[in-house]
Amino acid sequence: MKEKILKELKSRAGQYISGEEISNGLKVSRTAVWKYINQLKNMGYVIESQTNKGYRLVTSPDSLMPQEIKENLHTNFIGQHIQFLEEVDSTNLYAKRLAENSFEDGTVIIAEEQLKGKGRMGRDWVSPKGKGIWMTLMLKPKISPADAAKITLLAACAVCRSIEEIGGVYPKIKWPNDIVLNGKKLCGILTEMSVELDEINYLIVGIGVNVNLEPEDLPKQILDIATSIQIEKGSSIIRKELAAAIMNNFESYYSTFISKGSIKDYINEYKEKSAILGKEVRVTSSSLELQGTVADISEEGQLLLRLEDGSIREIISGEVSVRSLKGYIS
Ligand code: BTN
Repeated sequence: MKEKILKELKSRAGQYISGEEISNGLKVSRTAVWKYINQLKNMGYVIESQTNKGYRLVTSPDSLMPQEIKENLHTNFIGQHIQFLEEVDSTNLYAKRLAENSFEDGTVIIAEEQLKGKGRMGRDWVSPKGKGIWMTLMLKPKISPADAAKITLLAACAVCRSIEEIGGVYPKIKWPNDIVLNGKKLCGILTEMSVELDEINYLIVGIGVNVNLEPEDLPKQILDIATSIQIEKGSSIIRKELAAAIMNNFESYYSTFISKGSIKDYINEYKEKSAILGKEVRVTSSSLELQGTVADISEEGQLLLRLEDGSIREIISGEVSVRSLKGYIS
């Protein structure tokens, strides 16, 4: 109902609308309208009320409510259904619970705050209230599970491009899917899927972008490897615009991939944005420790590592960590 009232206020472009008109149009009592208006005010909407005239929307906050995002959304299916949560354990966990029943392809779960944000390799993901974009895209791709890593690569490309467009800063991608700026991480992507008999039931792409976090929002022990757009740029950006841009760009990349069955069209863009191509890196996982130079990134999404003896080793993403020899990435 709050969302519907907001829509009414917005449709008046800053003019007054009477409480009676809202209550008749939406079939709720005047008292209920008043209650919802107060809730919107508490959320940061500046709404003027005047006896005999009604309500007038003066300014909107940088909220990630679907109405706010949809103003800039130009997609066919990604984000056409958005579930907005003020607070959640993790948008990926929420998406998996939702997927147990049924969901529309392209549904997006987005939260203002995560209490148990999940990172790769069992790590936590710090997700303070109102400071970032914590969202999960829910997909039903008709592809082989072996090709799923390509979607993560495309997501990284789409997020990187969106940060350029809306943030005016130029981050790089650390294979497979960390987005880094000035050598520090500002976005992580966690893709998870449910597979049965070589078919994907569903695939979820969890995207965490540190947008307007300040240094004190990040734990001290990660300050030398993590950052935010605001910290690097020196000013804040409008989260809802970035969230919509990510959905717009992702849909365009993803649709091409699904129709062509390859990421050929985007692999060059991915490589141009790569933070590690040509660099010496150390690759580690629970069962592997390798050092070498990044020779290429294949169209299958693998990292091609040239080892000291000149041989090339193909690394598939998953539970591996890539670090430059000097630290996180530089
Ligand atoms: C990484 O470790 O680099 C991946 C981080 C992914 C974080 C995002 S935030 C939205 C979604 N929900 C989660 O719990 N994790 C992902």
